Amino acid sequence: MNIGIFIPIGNNGWLISENAPQYMPTFELNKHIVQRAEHYGFDFALSMIKLRGFGGKTEFWEHNLESFTLMAGLAAVTSRIQLFATAATLTMPPAIVARMAATIDSISNGRFGVNLVTGWQRPEYSQMGLWPGDEFFATRYDYLAEYAQVLRDLWSTGHCDLKGSYFQMDDCRVSPKPQADMKIICAGSSDAGMDFSARYADYNFCFGKGVNTPQAFAPATERLLAATTKSGRNVTSCVLFMVIADETEQAARAKWEHYKAGADQEALKWLGDQAAVDTRSGSDTNVRQMSDPTSAVNINMGTLVGSYEQVAKMLDEVAEVPGTEGVMLTFDDFVQGIEHFGQRIQPLMKSRGHIDAVKESA
Ligand SMILES: Cc1cc2nc3c(=O)[nH]c(=O)nc-3n(C[C@H](O)[C@H](O)[C@H](O)COP(=O)(O)O)c2cc1C
Repeated sequence: MNIGIFIPIGNNGWLISENAPQYMPTFELNKHIVQRAEHYGFDFALSMIKLRGFGGKTEFWEHNLESFTLMAGLAAVTSRIQLFATAATLTMPPAIVARMAATIDSISNGRFGVNLVTGWQRPEYSQMGLWPGDEFFATRYDYLAEYAQVLRDLWSTGHCDLKGSYFQMDDCRVSPKPQADMKIICAGSSDAGMDFSARYADYNFCFGKGVNTPQAFAPATERLLAATTKSGRNVTSCVLFMVIADETEQAARAKWEHYKAGADQEALKWLGDQAAVDTRSGSDTNVRQMSDPTSAVNINMGTLVGSYEQVAKMLDEVAEVPGTEGVMLTFDDFVQGIEHFGQRIQPLMKSRGHIDAVKESA
């Protein structure tokens, strides 16, 4: 099973809590994390794009670096790990994204790919006059399909003449083309999003579900497999989990309870209000899952809480779900978490048996 890391491009990573580590996103921090991930044999690192935070006492995600420029910097200081940036597709024309991706492909020697998002939070775009109106919630994957077609044309042939509803190309060109087959990621969870992934993406990312229920995401993978049966393409799932691990289950659970007790209610209210604005996407969009009060403190991403042995076992259970390519991890404390994963968890995982144990701490 592949393992990736969802790097903290925004302040405080993925815990919306006054009791969680409070930190700003910097290049140095992300460089450290990605270099250590590479050291431990991680397969990929992905950064999201977030253009407006949730506020509250913790100023959650009010501070965010930009995804392509961060990954370009990381490409220059790594040598093996795959890198993915996220394109906020309402803000950048596809021909520019195609060229930026070809540039990072060159910096990284073919280790780069792109996560395409339509956007689900109106203020990220309306603040800069780029929100097309709320009807976009219903049409956003039609827009993304044309966007992806332009990218695919430019990367594969260096040329695009698409005359679409959203994009009109006129002998558009990009050269040099990327040296590697440029991978596209999407994290669609609505029917329209899954259908898009089945037709245009290489991997579809989904949210893990619940606390210590490592296979609860399986229905999302089944839906993706059903969509790929229609499209006839091979697209696999990658699942997002937060790992909160310690020497004992009790110590790990104590940390989790502490984070929940310090939940930043004002920031969570913003998240809930934003998620409620989209009344047009199907009920299966996981935007509503994100704000569910059960575990909104970490946006309801699947959470694995336990001893190192327990977390290793649960990750192996994730790997058993058919159609699962890999997991993407976040940690409550990324700097400690990546070391504990590399030294204590990964060596116990059957699904990572191909990785040589890395014993040294430096
Ligand atoms: C791993 C992962 C990464 C994501 N990255 C971003 C991001 O960087 N920016 C963003 O606006 N949305 C991001 N999303 C949200 C998705 O693009 C998507 O909108 C969401 O999963 C809801 O699915 P839907 O669009 O099919 O309704 C991400 C979701 C997941 C699971």
